[in-house]
Amino acid sequence: MAETTTTPAASDRGDLADVGVTGLAVMGRNLARNIARHGHAVAVHNRTSSRVDELVDEHGDEGDFRPSHSLEDFVASLAKPRRVIIMVKAGKATDAVIDELVPLLEEGDIVVDAGNAHFEDTRRRERDLREHGLHYVGTGVSGGEEGALEGPSIMPGGSRESYDALGPILEDIAVDVDGTPCCTYVGPDGAGHFVKMVHNGIEYADMQLIAEAYDLLRSGLGMEPADIAGVFEDWNSGDLESFLVEITARVLRHTDAQTGKPFVDVVVDQAEQKGTGRWTVQSALDLGIPVTGIAEAVFARALSGAAGQRKAVLDKGLAGPSGVRLEGEDAEGFVDAVRQALYASKVVAYAQGFDQITAASAEYGWGVDRGMMATIWRGGCIIRARFLDRIKEAYDADEHLASLLLDDYFASAVDDAQDAWRRVVSAAVRLGIPAPGFSSALAYYDGLRRDRLPASLVQGLRDLFGAHTYRRVDTEGTFHTLWGGDLSEERQDTADQGSHSPH
Ligand code: 6PG
Repeated sequence: MAETTTTPAASDRGDLADVGVTGLAVMGRNLARNIARHGHAVAVHNRTSSRVDELVDEHGDEGDFRPSHSLEDFVASLAKPRRVIIMVKAGKATDAVIDELVPLLEEGDIVVDAGNAHFEDTRRRERDLREHGLHYVGTGVSGGEEGALEGPSIMPGGSRESYDALGPILEDIAVDVDGTPCCTYVGPDGAGHFVKMVHNGIEYADMQLIAEAYDLLRSGLGMEPADIAGVFEDWNSGDLESFLVEITARVLRHTDAQTGKPFVDVVVDQAEQKGTGRWTVQSALDLGIPVTGIAEAVFARALSGAAGQRKAVLDKGLAGPSGVRLEGEDAEGFVDAVRQALYASKVVAYAQGFDQITAASAEYGWGVDRGMMATIWRGGCIIRARFLDRIKEAYDADEHLASLLLDDYFASAVDDAQDAWRRVVSAAVRLGIPAPGFSSALAYYDGLRRDRLPASLVQGLRDLFGAHTYRRVDTEGTFHTLWGGDLSEERQDTADQGSHSPH
């Protein structure tokens, strides 16, 4: 395995490049430009070589690009240990590039996958390449095309040795917040892509909550999109300050040039998804972590996409309150109540996302530093927000925090918001406005708070129909009641083998 290395000084590397990018679609091209702008010699390659020439023709003056028209020349143009960043579509395309690259590389070289790969694919690839003496780094890069160019949040996994060689360049091109780069070593093998996946899951939840807040103001109060844009602009100067709240105002203020209608009214109301939110929920189910906010966001997108079923329901006209609006006293202060409900629901969604990172870190032995994840999400990424400073403070204050909701600041903020939160969920139910994000977050909060849950009845039912046993509150061990006999209770074993969630 490679010795601990650092980026060779320009004089040491001769005329070889510090790092290479293969895959020059917009994200790859912008990442290469970002690297070049920071003074690193960057080798560039693309399967369609015209893209290489276009990049150099259009942006060659931004820095030291080393164009290649073949993978062999590309690899040969790199200083050792070679650092190759792959920016191609997740899945088979990534495997195809890796298969072409590996024979050209030497022990200690580093292959970086900066796409949205599934973390299990990254774990597999990291194992495979390690057998060839190569480092494989799955890294999340968040911030979209603009972020890749101007400064993303970067979440690299892989071996510590690879980060020693790669980290300085990645920290150089990541955005800085308070002088701290939004990039840090996340942990081994798939840790980086896992954290990026959860980032995207939280992004889904965040966007769903914003959409529900918009719908409550639009359908509940009859406000126009431009006025709701003003509300989001106001909210963006307070605790809800964030990239997503900021761009919500921009989208809602936008008027469609062709029709003169609000842009949001000419967009088909069926949300699509590339899959990272879905992966987050699938992983959470395996880990036993209730990411209800992210799950409701994924399912809300699926429901919105069920065009045929929705049309059948509209044609039949399923009964429910519709066209009703809040008036008079009911409408008084409702805008601010929605703001408070949005904030409280957002705390729940982030708390759940960090719980999932905690559980995965324990499951896979990654040692992920949650405070550092909040730190590198403060800028560059899609969920960047003032809020993340608070999350960083919470984990800095208590690295073993059992839930973000237990942090004094968040516990107090949610308590202050809960009357409004309950009012908004109640109003949504009365008005027939779907608010699965707000209501599931409140249900999660109430579930977490309860000293006794109805799960005791679930255990009793499972024992009756399936003899699945249960534990008692007053005695160790597991038990089964003879429901078909004399209702006596049998002890099944003395070991506490109840199947609990892993955290
Ligand atoms: C980011 C974004 C990026 C991508 C989303 C879109 O962090 O820069 O999250 O990864 O735009 O994954 O995902 P959906 O199409 O699933 O909404």
